[in-house]
Amino acid sequence: MGHRRDHEWLETFEGDGADRYAEHARWMGGMHERTARRIAEALPRGGRYVDVGTGPGALPAAIAALRPDAGVTGVDPSERMVELAQARLAVAPVAPVAEPGRVVRGDAAHLPLPDASADVVSAVLTMHHWPDLDGGVAELTRVLAPGGAIVVVEMRGPSRHVARALRRAGLIVVRRNAWVMGLPALVRLTAHRPV
Ligand SMILES: C[S@@+](CC[C@H](N)C(=O)[O-])C[C@H]1O[C@@H](n2cnc3c(N)ncnc32)[C@H](O)[C@@H]1O
Repeated sequence: MGHRRDHEWLETFEGDGADRYAEHARWMGGMHERTARRIAEALPRGGRYVDVGTGPGALPAAIAALRPDAGVTGVDPSERMVELAQARLAVAPVAPVAEPGRVVRGDAAHLPLPDASADVVSAVLTMHHWPDLDGGVAELTRVLAPGGAIVVVEMRGPSRHVARALRRAGLIVVRRNAWVMGLPALVRLTAHRPV
């Protein structure tokens, strides 16, 4: 589904490319904030949150601030993105009872996380880069605990492929606009296992 081969995308998000993305992603701050509020509402008390393809860690940092009771994990294959996200999480407030958030290197196709270890899993503007979309969705569902939710934000075109992949995995998908600078430029998908 990607518009370029995956290794080229990974080069884009390594080294200076990661720093450039972190700088330009600031204009999506409103979208990240609104997405974080939806995730914070969906997390049970003391819940576990995982952000796959976390990039510079806008969402883990926002959830650590909004929900200091939650366990927060970011995952990204880019070494520089992991450094940037760790630095951002390090300055996020953490309650004395909570574990500090962590960011680990990993690919959506092989998440370095145990089965059923997350109450909410998110993937924001990353799934269109995954060379094996169904494999990535299988990993998101493997780490999702019973009753949990997957929250995706995507560009409109790729969001249709992602919604189909989530439904192929047996999930129920709700689709909403995600607004960027007053425009419905992106789509937010929330997926649950049927009860
Ligand atoms: C456009 S950035 C989005 C970052 C972040 N989610 C955000 O909203 O700012 C895409 C991210 O997806 C990551 N990525 C690319 N391929 C991936 C894969 N196969 N598995 C997990 N993450 C991947 C990149 O390293 C990059 O950090």
